[in-house]
Amino acid sequence: MNILLTGAAGFIGSHTAVELLRRGHNVVGVDNMNSYYDPSLKKARLSWVRKCARTAKGKFSFSEKDIADLSAMEKIFKTHKFDKVCNLAAQAGVRYSFENPSSYIHCNIIGFFNILELCCKYKVKHLVYASSSSVYGNNAKVPFSEDDRTDDPQSLYAATKKSNELMAHVYMHQRGLSCTGLRFFTVYGPWGRPDMAPFKFMKKILGDEPIDVYNKGKLSRDFSYIDDIVKGIVAVIEGPNKSNRPVYNIGNSRPVGLMDFIRTIENTAGKKAKKVMKGMQPGDVYTTFASTLALEEDYAFRPDTPLEKGIAEFYNWYKAFYKIS
Ligand SMILES: NC(=O)c1ccc[n+]([C@@H]2O[C@H](COP(=O)([O-])OP(=O)(O)OC[C@H]3O[C@@H](n4cnc5c(N)ncnc54)[C@H](O)[C@@H]3O)[C@@H](O)[C@H]2O)c1
Repeated sequence: MNILLTGAAGFIGSHTAVELLRRGHNVVGVDNMNSYYDPSLKKARLSWVRKCARTAKGKFSFSEKDIADLSAMEKIFKTHKFDKVCNLAAQAGVRYSFENPSSYIHCNIIGFFNILELCCKYKVKHLVYASSSSVYGNNAKVPFSEDDRTDDPQSLYAATKKSNELMAHVYMHQRGLSCTGLRFFTVYGPWGRPDMAPFKFMKKILGDEPIDVYNKGKLSRDFSYIDDIVKGIVAVIEGPNKSNRPVYNIGNSRPVGLMDFIRTIENTAGKKAKKVMKGMQPGDVYTTFASTLALEEDYAFRPDTPLEKGIAEFYNWYKAFYKIS
Protein backbone atom coordinates (compact mmCIF):
# COMPACT_ATOMS: atom_id res chain seq x y z
CA MET A 1 0.00 0.00 0.00
CA ASN A 2 0.93 3.66 -0.32
CA ILE A 3 0.83 5.12 3.14
CA LEU A 4 1.19 8.67 4.43
CA LEU A 5 2.78 8.64 7.87
CA THR A 6 2.83 11.97 9.71
CA GLY A 7 5.16 12.43 12.67
CA ALA A 8 7.57 10.07 10.89
CA ALA A 9 10.63 11.52 12.65
CA GLY A 10 8.95 11.04 16.02
CA PHE A 11 9.45 8.18 18.44
CA ILE A 12 6.43 6.05 17.51
CA GLY A 13 6.43 7.32 13.90
CA SER A 14 10.00 6.22 13.11
CA HIS A 15 9.41 2.71 14.48
CA THR A 16 6.11 2.49 12.58
CA ALA A 17 7.84 3.57 9.36
CA VAL A 18 10.50 0.86 9.74
CA GLU A 19 7.90 -1.87 10.29
CA LEU A 20 5.66 -0.71 7.40
CA LEU A 21 8.66 -0.63 5.04
CA ARG A 22 9.82 -4.04 6.21
CA ARG A 23 6.36 -5.38 5.39
CA GLY A 24 6.59 -4.02 1.85
CA HIS A 25 4.51 -0.84 2.04
CA ASN A 26 5.60 2.42 0.44
CA VAL A 27 5.78 5.13 3.07
CA VAL A 28 5.75 8.89 2.59
CA GLY A 29 6.87 10.42 5.87
CA VAL A 30 5.98 13.97 6.91
CA ASP A 31 7.31 15.82 9.94
CA ASN A 32 7.99 19.49 10.66
CA MET A 33 11.10 18.61 12.73
CA ASN A 34 10.17 21.16 15.41
CA SER A 35 12.40 21.80 18.40
CA TYR A 36 10.01 20.80 21.20
CA TYR A 37 12.83 18.37 21.99
CA ASP A 38 16.28 17.97 20.41
CA PRO A 39 15.73 17.90 16.61
CA SER A 40 19.04 16.06 16.16
CA LEU A 41 17.34 13.01 17.69
CA LYS A 42 14.59 13.34 15.06
CA LYS A 43 17.23 13.59 12.32
CA ALA A 44 19.00 10.52 13.66
CA ARG A 45 15.71 8.58 13.69
CA LEU A 46 15.17 9.55 10.04
CA SER A 47 18.67 8.32 9.14
CA TRP A 48 17.82 5.04 10.87
CA VAL A 49 14.55 4.76 8.88
CA ARG A 50 16.41 5.49 5.60
CA LYS A 51 19.04 2.89 6.46
CA CYS A 52 16.33 0.29 7.16
CA ALA A 53 14.58 1.26 3.90
CA ARG A 54 17.68 0.22 1.90
CA THR A 55 17.07 -3.44 2.69
CA ALA A 56 13.27 -3.28 3.00
CA LYS A 57 10.72 -4.21 0.37
CA GLY A 58 8.90 -0.87 0.57
CA LYS A 59 10.12 2.57 -0.53
CA PHE A 60 10.55 5.56 1.78
CA SER A 61 10.44 9.25 1.02
CA PHE A 62 10.34 12.15 3.42
CA SER A 63 9.00 15.69 3.27
CA GLU A 64 9.67 18.29 5.96
CA LYS A 65 6.24 19.88 6.18
CA ASP A 66 3.83 21.16 8.80
CA ILE A 67 0.48 19.36 8.79
CA ALA A 68 -1.15 22.71 9.66
CA ASP A 69 0.01 24.01 6.25
CA LEU A 70 -2.97 23.01 4.10
CA SER A 71 -1.53 23.85 0.69
CA ALA A 72 1.77 22.04 1.37
CA MET A 73 -0.13 18.99 2.58
CA GLU A 74 -2.51 19.12 -0.39
CA LYS A 75 0.47 18.92 -2.78
CA ILE A 76 1.60 15.75 -1.02
CA PHE A 77 -1.88 14.18 -1.21
CA LYS A 78 -2.14 15.13 -4.89
CA THR A 79 1.24 13.67 -5.82
CA HIS A 80 0.83 10.31 -4.10
CA LYS A 81 -2.32 8.30 -4.21
CA PHE A 82 -2.50 7.21 -0.59
CA ASP A 83 -4.42 4.08 0.30
CA LYS A 84 -4.13 4.77 4.00
CA VAL A 85 -3.01 7.58 6.26
CA CYS A 86 -1.51 7.21 9.71
CA ASN A 87 -1.49 10.51 11.60
CA LEU A 88 0.96 10.44 14.49
CA ALA A 89 2.12 14.07 14.20
CA ALA A 90 1.13 16.02 17.28
CA GLN A 91 2.33 18.42 19.84
CA ALA A 92 2.70 15.82 22.59
CA GLY A 93 3.32 16.24 26.31
CA VAL A 94 0.94 17.06 29.13
CA ARG A 95 3.05 19.54 31.10
CA TYR A 96 4.17 21.62 28.10
CA SER A 97 0.51 22.36 27.29
CA PHE A 98 0.47 24.68 30.32
CA GLU A 99 3.48 26.61 28.92
CA ASN A 100 2.70 26.74 25.20
CA PRO A 101 -0.99 26.02 24.67
CA SER A 102 -1.12 27.51 21.15
CA SER A 103 1.22 24.86 19.73
CA TYR A 104 -1.42 22.24 20.66
CA ILE A 105 -4.15 24.08 18.81
CA HIS A 106 -1.85 24.58 15.80
CA CYS A 107 -0.87 20.96 15.27
CA ASN A 108 -3.48 18.89 17.06
CA ILE A 109 -6.55 20.85 15.99
CA ILE A 110 -5.73 22.75 12.77
CA GLY A 111 -3.28 20.11 11.54
CA PHE A 112 -5.69 17.27 12.28
CA PHE A 113 -8.54 19.15 10.59
CA ASN A 114 -6.37 19.41 7.43
CA ILE A 115 -5.67 15.69 7.52
CA LEU A 116 -9.40 14.92 7.81
CA GLU A 117 -10.30 17.25 4.93
CA LEU A 118 -7.57 15.91 2.65
CA CYS A 119 -8.38 12.29 3.45
CA CYS A 120 -11.96 12.99 2.30
CA LYS A 121 -10.94 14.96 -0.78
CA TYR A 122 -8.41 12.37 -1.96
CA LYS A 123 -10.57 9.38 -1.00
CA VAL A 124 -8.22 7.74 1.48
CA LYS A 125 -9.61 4.35 2.48
CA HIS A 126 -8.74 4.49 6.16
CA LEU A 127 -7.29 7.10 8.51
CA VAL A 128 -5.58 5.70 11.61
CA TYR A 129 -4.67 8.43 14.10
CA ALA A 130 -3.07 8.84 17.51
CA SER A 131 -5.22 9.60 20.49
CA SER A 132 -4.04 9.22 24.07
CA SER A 133 -4.78 7.60 27.43
CA SER A 134 -4.91 11.17 28.76
CA VAL A 135 -8.51 11.41 27.49
CA TYR A 136 -9.50 9.31 30.54
CA GLY A 137 -8.40 12.08 32.95
CA ASN A 138 -8.59 10.81 36.51
CA ASN A 139 -10.96 7.98 35.63
CA ALA A 140 -11.36 6.01 38.86
CA LYS A 141 -12.55 2.78 37.23
CA VAL A 142 -9.74 0.43 36.19
CA PRO A 143 -8.86 -0.91 33.76
CA PHE A 144 -9.84 1.94 31.44
CA SER A 145 -12.27 0.72 28.83
CA GLU A 146 -13.14 2.45 25.56
CA ASP A 147 -16.71 2.85 26.83
CA ASP A 148 -15.69 4.80 29.95
CA ARG A 149 -16.44 8.51 30.14
CA THR A 150 -13.80 10.80 28.67
CA ASP A 151 -15.29 14.21 29.39
CA ASP A 152 -12.98 15.37 32.18
CA PRO A 153 -9.58 16.09 30.55
CA GLN A 154 -6.88 17.35 32.93
CA SER A 155 -4.85 19.31 30.36
CA LEU A 156 -5.24 21.08 27.03
CA TYR A 157 -3.22 18.26 25.47
CA ALA A 158 -5.87 15.75 26.61
CA ALA A 159 -8.62 18.09 25.40
CA THR A 160 -7.08 18.26 21.90
CA LYS A 161 -6.85 14.46 21.74
CA LYS A 162 -10.48 14.13 22.81
CA SER A 163 -11.35 16.79 20.21
CA ASN A 164 -9.62 14.67 17.56
CA GLU A 165 -11.88 11.77 18.43
CA LEU A 166 -14.96 14.00 18.17
CA MET A 167 -13.78 15.54 14.87
CA ALA A 168 -13.11 12.06 13.46
CA HIS A 169 -16.60 11.00 14.57
CA VAL A 170 -18.14 13.81 12.52
CA TYR A 171 -16.06 13.03 9.42
CA MET A 172 -16.95 9.38 9.76
CA HIS A 173 -20.68 9.94 10.08
CA GLN A 174 -21.18 13.03 7.91
CA ARG A 175 -18.51 12.52 5.26
CA GLY A 176 -18.14 8.74 5.21
CA LEU A 177 -14.42 8.81 6.07
CA SER A 178 -13.29 5.63 7.78
CA CYS A 179 -11.24 6.59 10.88
CA THR A 180 -9.75 4.67 13.79
CA GLY A 181 -8.22 6.35 16.84
CA LEU A 182 -5.60 4.61 18.96
CA ARG A 183 -5.29 5.67 22.59
CA PHE A 184 -1.61 5.15 23.45
CA PHE A 185 -0.46 4.48 27.02
CA THR A 186 3.08 5.69 28.03
CA VAL A 187 5.15 4.13 25.26
CA TYR A 188 8.88 3.59 25.97
CA GLY A 189 11.87 1.97 24.28
CA PRO A 190 14.82 2.69 21.95
CA TRP A 191 14.67 6.08 20.18
CA GLY A 192 12.27 7.22 22.94
CA ARG A 193 11.15 10.72 23.79
CA PRO A 194 13.47 12.89 25.93
CA ASP A 195 10.52 14.70 27.55
CA MET A 196 9.05 11.49 28.98
CA ALA A 197 9.80 9.95 32.38
CA PRO A 198 11.50 6.71 31.15
CA PHE A 199 14.04 8.74 29.13
CA LYS A 200 14.57 11.37 31.83
CA PHE A 201 15.09 8.70 34.48
CA MET A 202 17.57 6.77 32.33
CA LYS A 203 19.52 9.91 31.44
CA LYS A 204 19.70 11.22 34.99
CA ILE A 205 20.44 7.90 36.68
CA LEU A 206 23.29 7.21 34.24
CA GLY A 207 24.54 10.78 34.67
CA ASP A 208 24.39 10.61 38.52
CA GLU A 209 21.86 13.46 38.54
CA PRO A 210 18.83 13.57 40.87
CA ILE A 211 15.43 12.58 39.49
CA ASP A 212 12.12 14.22 40.39
CA VAL A 213 9.59 11.69 41.67
CA TYR A 214 6.12 13.15 41.47
CA ASN A 215 3.35 12.54 43.99
CA LYS A 216 6.06 10.94 46.15
CA GLY A 217 6.08 7.95 43.80
CA LYS A 218 2.42 7.13 44.38
CA LEU A 219 1.58 7.00 40.68
CA SER A 220 1.29 4.09 38.30
CA ARG A 221 1.52 3.88 34.55
CA ASP A 222 0.69 1.26 31.96
CA PHE A 223 4.19 1.39 30.41
CA SER A 224 4.00 -0.07 26.90
CA TYR A 225 6.98 -1.32 24.92
CA ILE A 226 7.39 0.26 21.49
CA ASP A 227 7.65 -3.00 19.47
CA ASP A 228 4.38 -4.28 20.95
CA ILE A 229 2.67 -0.98 20.15
CA VAL A 230 3.98 -0.86 16.58
CA LYS A 231 2.62 -4.38 15.93
CA GLY A 232 -0.80 -3.08 17.02
CA ILE A 233 -0.61 0.06 14.87
CA VAL A 234 0.45 -1.93 11.79
CA ALA A 235 -2.30 -4.51 12.36
CA VAL A 236 -4.89 -1.72 12.30
CA ILE A 237 -3.35 -0.08 9.20
CA GLU A 238 -3.24 -3.42 7.36
CA GLY A 239 -6.67 -4.47 8.63
CA PRO A 240 -10.07 -3.87 7.06
CA ASN A 241 -10.81 -0.37 5.84
CA LYS A 242 -13.41 0.00 8.52
CA SER A 243 -12.78 -1.14 12.09
CA ASN A 244 -15.46 -2.33 14.49
CA ARG A 245 -14.83 0.54 16.87
CA PRO A 246 -14.03 4.22 16.39
CA VAL A 247 -11.26 4.10 19.05
CA TYR A 248 -9.14 1.41 20.70
CA ASN A 249 -6.88 1.40 23.74
CA ILE A 250 -3.39 0.27 22.87
CA GLY A 251 -1.35 -0.38 25.99
CA ASN A 252 0.27 -3.12 28.02
CA SER A 253 -2.62 -3.78 30.46
CA ARG A 254 -0.17 -4.21 33.35
CA PRO A 255 0.29 -0.94 35.25
CA VAL A 256 3.57 -0.56 37.12
CA GLY A 257 4.10 1.60 40.21
CA LEU A 258 6.50 4.48 39.65
CA MET A 259 8.90 3.24 42.35
CA ASP A 260 8.99 -0.24 40.78
CA PHE A 261 9.65 1.31 37.41
CA ILE A 262 12.58 3.33 38.82
CA ARG A 263 13.90 0.18 40.56
CA THR A 264 13.88 -1.68 37.23
CA ILE A 265 15.99 1.05 35.63
CA GLU A 266 18.33 1.03 38.65
CA ASN A 267 18.77 -2.74 38.41
CA THR A 268 19.39 -2.61 34.67
CA ALA A 269 21.83 0.30 34.88
CA GLY A 270 23.48 -1.04 38.04
CA LYS A 271 23.14 2.40 39.64
CA LYS A 272 20.98 3.88 42.39
CA ALA A 273 18.77 6.87 41.60
CA LYS A 274 19.05 10.02 43.69
CA LYS A 275 15.36 10.66 44.26
CA VAL A 276 13.82 14.04 44.99
CA MET A 277 10.27 13.50 46.20
CA LYS A 278 7.85 16.04 44.74
CA GLY A 279 4.12 16.75 44.92
CA MET A 280 1.55 16.09 42.22
CA GLN A 281 2.14 17.98 38.96
CA PRO A 282 -0.63 19.97 37.29
CA GLY A 283 -2.33 17.92 34.59
CA ASP A 284 -0.95 14.61 35.88
CA VAL A 285 -3.22 11.67 36.62
CA TYR A 286 -2.75 9.05 39.34
CA THR A 287 -2.94 5.93 37.26
CA THR A 288 -3.32 4.67 33.71
CA PHE A 289 -4.39 1.10 32.98
CA ALA A 290 -5.59 0.00 29.54
CA SER A 291 -8.13 -2.67 28.90
CA THR A 292 -7.04 -3.91 25.48
CA LEU A 293 -9.71 -6.58 25.08
CA ALA A 294 -11.22 -4.85 22.04
CA LEU A 295 -7.89 -4.64 20.19
CA GLU A 296 -7.11 -8.24 21.15
CA GLU A 297 -10.45 -9.39 19.80
CA ASP A 298 -10.42 -7.39 16.56
CA TYR A 299 -6.71 -7.35 15.70
CA ALA A 300 -5.15 -10.20 17.74
CA PHE A 301 -3.12 -7.61 19.66
CA ARG A 302 -0.92 -9.31 22.29
CA PRO A 303 1.73 -7.19 23.99
CA ASP A 304 4.32 -9.60 25.39
CA THR A 305 7.47 -7.68 26.28
CA PRO A 306 8.26 -7.90 30.00
CA LEU A 307 9.27 -4.60 31.58
CA GLU A 308 12.78 -5.89 32.39
CA LYS A 309 13.38 -6.82 28.75
CA GLY A 310 11.97 -3.55 27.43
CA ILE A 311 14.10 -1.50 29.83
CA ALA A 312 17.19 -3.54 28.90
CA GLU A 313 16.60 -2.82 25.20
CA PHE A 314 16.13 0.85 25.96
CA TYR A 315 19.30 0.91 28.13
CA ASN A 316 21.39 -0.75 25.39
CA TRP A 317 20.14 1.69 22.78
CA TYR A 318 20.67 4.69 25.08
CA LYS A 319 24.27 3.74 25.85
CA ALA A 320 25.11 3.08 22.20
CA PHE A 321 23.38 6.21 20.89
CA TYR A 322 24.89 8.58 23.45
CA LYS A 323 28.23 6.71 23.41
CA ILE A 324 28.25 5.94 27.12
CA SER A 325 30.80 3.30 28.00
N1 LIG B 1 4.65 8.23 23.35
C1 LIG B 1 3.57 8.07 24.10
O1 LIG B 1 3.62 7.47 25.18
C2 LIG B 1 2.24 8.62 23.66
C3 LIG B 1 1.15 8.50 24.54
C4 LIG B 1 -0.09 8.98 24.12
C5 LIG B 1 -0.25 9.52 22.88
N2 LIG B 1 0.82 9.65 22.05
C6 LIG B 1 0.60 10.25 20.73
O2 LIG B 1 1.23 9.44 19.75
C7 LIG B 1 1.74 10.26 18.70
C8 LIG B 1 3.21 10.01 18.50
O3 LIG B 1 3.87 10.31 19.73
P1 LIG B 1 5.43 10.21 19.93
O4 LIG B 1 5.67 9.75 21.30
O5 LIG B 1 6.06 9.52 18.78
O6 LIG B 1 5.79 11.79 19.90
P2 LIG B 1 6.93 12.57 19.11
O7 LIG B 1 6.88 13.97 19.61
O8 LIG B 1 8.23 11.86 19.21
O9 LIG B 1 6.41 12.50 17.62
C9 LIG B 1 5.53 13.44 17.06
C10 LIG B 1 6.20 14.01 15.82
O10 LIG B 1 5.28 14.92 15.22
C11 LIG B 1 6.03 16.00 14.72
N3 LIG B 1 5.15 17.16 14.63
C12 LIG B 1 4.68 17.95 15.63
N4 LIG B 1 3.90 18.93 15.13
C13 LIG B 1 3.88 18.76 13.78
C14 LIG B 1 3.26 19.46 12.72
N5 LIG B 1 2.49 20.54 12.96
N6 LIG B 1 3.44 19.00 11.47
C15 LIG B 1 4.22 17.92 11.21
N7 LIG B 1 4.84 17.22 12.18
C16 LIG B 1 4.67 17.64 13.45
C17 LIG B 1 7.15 16.22 15.70
O11 LIG B 1 8.26 16.89 15.11
C18 LIG B 1 7.47 14.79 16.12
O12 LIG B 1 8.56 14.27 15.38
C19 LIG B 1 1.39 11.69 19.08
O13 LIG B 1 0.19 12.03 18.46
C20 LIG B 1 1.22 11.63 20.59
O14 LIG B 1 0.36 12.64 21.05
C21 LIG B 1 2.06 9.20 22.41
